[in-house]
Amino acid sequence: MKFLRYPGGKTKMLSYLVNHLPNKEEIKGTYIEPFVGGGSIFFYMNPNKAIISDLNKELISLYKGIKLYPHKVWETFESFPSGKLGYYEIRDNNYEEKPLHYRAARTLYLNRTCFKGMWRHNNNGNFNVGYGGEERRWVITHQNIIELSHIFRKAEIMQNDFEKVILGASKNDFIFLDPPYKPGEKDLYELHYSSGKFLFKEQVRLSETLKSLPKSKNIRWAMTNSSHKDIIDLYKDYNVKLIPLCTSDKPGIQTKKSNEVLITNY
Ligand SMILES: C[S@@+](CC[C@H](N)C(=O)[O-])C[C@H]1O[C@@H](n2cnc3c(N)ncnc32)[C@H](O)[C@@H]1O
Repeated sequence: MKFLRYPGGKTKMLSYLVNHLPNKEEIKGTYIEPFVGGGSIFFYMNPNKAIISDLNKELISLYKGIKLYPHKVWETFESFPSGKLGYYEIRDNNYEEKPLHYRAARTLYLNRTCFKGMWRHNNNGNFNVGYGGEERRWVITHQNIIELSHIFRKAEIMQNDFEKVILGASKNDFIFLDPPYKPGEKDLYELHYSSGKFLFKEQVRLSETLKSLPKSKNIRWAMTNSSHKDIIDLYKDYNVKLIPLCTSDKPGIQTKKSNEVLITNY
């Protein structure tokens, strides 16, 4: 089940990626994902012990809410109105002071009913995507939310900058990294995320953070990124593979290149 509609989701290249990542039994330490986003890799891996983190506050409240209060999140989600007027009421009402389960249900509701699952905020940080309809709302069931809460119980969920999360890794941990980027040559900016721009200097900070991990800790990491030459230059001493574009989540069905690379330190 794809529970969130999220920009930059990795579902389409899952079949390629999982062949290049250790499986959960091979991870002796903790599975760490500092840019977890919609979590497609985390859900697929379903690790025994994990740390997941993202700067996106509403996303992290959603995960924490489901982890702690799955039934309350569902009941609130179910109670929200259908139709355009109701959508704008929930979207624009003050929610910051509401309890965690309410904020979680609200994020899920907006994600499932907004236009094309977009995730966009205005300069004041308010979600400002228009109404999209009810067709995708009831794809999610109460049972799904309960199952997700079981997965989240094995994870520590944090809202942190990537550097703090990476530097917190311990011996034998595995880190999967999917920073914001646009595939291809032209653009090294990303404006789609609530956290704002992920500029090239952030990419440099990311590469330096990874390089600073002590070898003695035996931390393995894998990262998806743009095939832009400036990115590849940052990772000269690592393994860089061009990812084929997968048209389906079934293995073997691949077409042209994706302009994205997989970089690993193993
Ligand atoms: C490409 S998305 C991850 C998509 C995810 N792999 C999936 O399958 O849905 C990148 C994520 O990085 C987060 N992000 C941006 N800047 C960050 C930072 N400095 N530290 C941590 N997370 C950040 C964004 O909020 C976004 O969720």
